[in-house]
Amino acid sequence: MSSNKVYIFDTTLRDGEQVPGCQLNTKEKVQVARALEELGVDIIEAGFPVSSPGDFDSVVAISKAVSNPVICALTRAVKADIDCAVNALQYAKRKRIHTGIGSSDIHIQHKFNSSREKILEQAVDAVKYAKQYVEDIEFYAEDAGRADLRFLAQMVEAVIDAGATVVNIPDTTGYCLPEQYGAKIKFLAEHVNNIHKAVISCHCHNDLGLATANSIAGVVNGARQIECTINGIGERAGNTSLEEVVMILQAHKNLHLTTGVNSKKIYSTSQLVSRLMNMQVQANKAIVGKNAFSHSSGIHQDGFLKNRDTYEVINPADVGVDQSLIVLTARSGRAALKHRIGELGYKVSKEELNTIYQRFLEMADTLKQVENKDLQQLMEEFKNVEA
Ligand code: KIV
Ligand code: ZN
Repeated sequence: MSSNKVYIFDTTLRDGEQVPGCQLNTKEKVQVARALEELGVDIIEAGFPVSSPGDFDSVVAISKAVSNPVICALTRAVKADIDCAVNALQYAKRKRIHTGIGSSDIHIQHKFNSSREKILEQAVDAVKYAKQYVEDIEFYAEDAGRADLRFLAQMVEAVIDAGATVVNIPDTTGYCLPEQYGAKIKFLAEHVNNIHKAVISCHCHNDLGLATANSIAGVVNGARQIECTINGIGERAGNTSLEEVVMILQAHKNLHLTTGVNSKKIYSTSQLVSRLMNMQVQANKAIVGKNAFSHSSGIHQDGFLKNRDTYEVINPADVGVDQSLIVLTARSGRAALKHRIGELGYKVSKEELNTIYQRFLEMADTLKQVENKDLQQLMEEFKNVEA
C-alpha cells in the first residue's frame, strides 16, 4: 500500500504563468518561489527553460534561491530541450526533469503527425536521455485524459522501465469526469507491472470546472502527487487550485491523506500571486476569495453567530484569514444587526432593535452594503430622536 503523503507539485510559475498578461520577471518569480517554499510545497515547477532566455534565467535564479523543494524544469521529448533544462538546473540542490509527449490519438495524429509506435519510442528515448543527467525524471503523457487506456498503460510501463520516477497523467483539456479520471488512475495502479517504482501524478485542467474533483479522484484511487497552482491560475480555465486540494485533504480526515503544506500561509501566498500577476481572485473563489468566509443572509448569519460550524467547514484561521465576516445587506437579519451594533458599543432593547431594524432595511435597500460608518450615523439619529 502506498504512503498517505500526497506530494504537492506547484506549477504556478510554469503552467500558471502561461496565462496571457500574467508573465513575471525573474525577480518576481524568485519572490513567488520563496513564498512557495515557506508554504511547504514539495516540488516547484520553475519553468520551461528552452522557451525563452528569460525563463531559462528564472530557473537558474530559483535553483539558487530555494533549497527545500525539488526544482523541476519542463521539456518536450526533445534532446535540445533536455540539454537546456539540465543546464538551467545546474545549481538546484534537488532537481527534476519533466519531459513528455502526447498520448491521445488526437495529439499523435494531428499534433505530431506520427504513430503510436513512434511516439512510444520517442518517449522512451527522452526519458533515457534525461536519466543520464538527472536521477529524478517525471514523464507526462499529454492529453492522457482522452488517451486509449491500454496504450496509456503501455506508455507508462515503458517510461518507468526507461527510468521515470514519476508518471504524470494529465487531463490536459479538462475533459474527464471525476469517476472516469479516478478509474484511469486505478487501472494504471493495478495493471502496470512496474508501477510500484514510480509515483503517479495528477495534472488536471479546469475547462469543465472539474480540475479539483478530478485530482481528488486521482489520489483516492492511488495517485500520490497533485500538480496545481495558487488561485487555480493557468491555461484557459486554469489548473487545479492548490488551496482547494490541500484544504479538502485537511477537512476530509477520513481520506487519510496528508500534505506537507502549512495551510496558514495559503492566504498570504494567494494575495502575493494575485498582486504580482495582476490577476484578481474572484470574490466567490473557494478558500481565498473575498467572500469565502463572509456571511450575508439573515438565516446564515443567525446560525453562524450561534455556532460557526453551522455554516463553515473550515476555520478561516487555518488558511491565514483573520476572521469570518458578517456582511450587512438588505438580506441580513436582526441577529446580525444586533451583533454589529453591539460591536460598535450600543446596547439596545428588543423593542429598540425592531425600530432600528426597520430603518436599517430602508438604508440597506438603497446601499449595496451597510458599513460601520452608516450604522453609526443611523444609531446617532436614532438616539437623537429617542432623546
Ligand atoms: O496540461 C498538460 O498536459 C501539461 C503538460 C505539459 C504537463 O501542462
Ligand atoms: Zn497543464
